Amino acid sequence: MMNEFQPITRIEENDVFLKKKRAKLQKWYVNEYMTVNSDKVIPHKNIKPLNSLSNSDGIKIKRMLMQDKKLIQNESKNRLNINGNKKIENQEQKSVRETQGNTFKSEDYILNINQKNQFYLKKIFDEETLMNFNHDVKKIQYDNIKTGVDKYSILYERYVKENYRKQTYPNYDKQFSENALNGKLNLVFGDSLELLKKLPSESIQVMVTSPPYYNAREYSKWNNLDEYLDNMKEIIKECYRVLDNHRAFLFNVGDIFDNPNRLTRSTWGKERIPLGMYFINIFEEAGFKFVDDFIWDKGEVQSARHKNSFRPYPLYQYPINSYEHIFVFMKHRLDKYRYPCPICGSLKVNGNTQSEPGVQSWECKNYDCFERSKSNRGKRFSLISNIKQRNQNEENKIDEGLIQKWRRDIVKFPPVIKINSHGKNTLGHTAPFPEDIPEYAVKAFSFVGETLLDPFAGSFTSAIVAAKYGRIGIGFELHKENIIVAKKRMAQLNYNSGYKVIYYDNNELVVNKYKRRLLDFE
Ligand SMILES: C[S@@+](CC[C@H](N)C(=O)[O-])C[C@H]1O[C@@H](n2cnc3c(N)ncnc32)[C@H](O)[C@@H]1O
Ligand SMILES: [Zn+2]
Repeated sequence: MMNEFQPITRIEENDVFLKKKRAKLQKWYVNEYMTVNSDKVIPHKNIKPLNSLSNSDGIKIKRMLMQDKKLIQNESKNRLNINGNKKIENQEQKSVRETQGNTFKSEDYILNINQKNQFYLKKIFDEETLMNFNHDVKKIQYDNIKTGVDKYSILYERYVKENYRKQTYPNYDKQFSENALNGKLNLVFGDSLELLKKLPSESIQVMVTSPPYYNAREYSKWNNLDEYLDNMKEIIKECYRVLDNHRAFLFNVGDIFDNPNRLTRSTWGKERIPLGMYFINIFEEAGFKFVDDFIWDKGEVQSARHKNSFRPYPLYQYPINSYEHIFVFMKHRLDKYRYPCPICGSLKVNGNTQSEPGVQSWECKNYDCFERSKSNRGKRFSLISNIKQRNQNEENKIDEGLIQKWRRDIVKFPPVIKINSHGKNTLGHTAPFPEDIPEYAVKAFSFVGETLLDPFAGSFTSAIVAAKYGRIGIGFELHKENIIVAKKRMAQLNYNSGYKVIYYDNNELVVNKYKRRLLDFE
């Protein structure tokens, strides 16, 4: 199987670039051949001495090595299936990693590429920052070039972000941010707008919420629909600043039936208000891109008022509202900072076009890069494609069930029932959404270890679900008494780990830490 190759295009020997490429393949061949040359892998039979390699040999070898890699992967998978034994898989993976570690003579690869990148780094960072960066680069540990480049890129991205913050929003509240952005689960009490203003720019990787209903008696402070929408606009603008670039905000809202209070305040002024439509406008004005609108089919709803006055005649017919929107908005701020090639780590990259509005794409111009296309183009990438690809690992894999559930843009699952069998409202005056919504936000729009914020937390469903799935879960909630429903929600959602309660008392920041959920409310 390994000796059969597809026909390859004839390559002219005098092509300078291909000669370089051939030299590289020879080098690469030495590394890679040793990597795969373990007793578990059939060694190549038709390997020629290195000095007799032609260009086409180079390409053949590359193909062959790729096939070999697949073979290794398949082999370990098969073994795992037969034995069902995880230990064996781990050991095998480890031995492959170790072999790679020993064969890559690359301890100084990252230092070298960083040296070459100094020309660009000097243009981006001031002297002190660059010194710190170079110092941190020396500490990067890696056992193959790919991991090295990934770690180098992550470090660089962190510095670029800090730089961007300094230039655009330097005066965030460091004390608050350190407490609110770290840990597992943070229940933060206060006004969302004020709290958001304390956070550094682009410090949250995913947001999900359902806003307060403008007419909700318990906490309404708006005289009419316009005041409400203006207030929401201020908050959503601040969310845009705080959300990380190229990341998503999932927004659950229903089109309500009420009086907008613009003309009259009587109950006769009730009408259908397409809140969803207004919110799309607000999000777009704040800079977000509208991406999707899931219709959440709530089935038969709890308060199903009949809308036809029991008259089966024309002009009496109105449907019972049984859906809500779950909008997906994305932030795409055009970021012209240079990012390192994900293959070789070089900053010698040229700005390509935007791969979509607001997403800058780059092409690697380092001719020593390990990857060039057949037509001699360098690796093309963007910041977001790098982040996506680098995180495709087991812990971030989305389960098939969830993918199936959200495959269509109409999804059906029941709302949270607040009234228990004794007719008692068990969850206070919040209108919690089912965990299905934040579960999707968390798993489909963030990676393990990242940070989720719900700016209108209510009973903190989103933050709890985020913490359950290995993210940092943060919620902002106006009403401190919601701590009681938050604890109930932790119990319902089987969250038993640590959390912090954060609030201000006479302008003094108070942080209470709990090792686990307290069971004192039951
Ligand atoms: C629809 S509820 C959210 C319910 C939540 N999804 C849950 O699962 O429990 C909206 C919440 O926003 C809170 N709220 C309203 N205005 C706020 C503000 N300015 N800052 C923070 N929270 C606010 C309300 O107290 C209410 O609990
Ligand atoms: Zn490159």
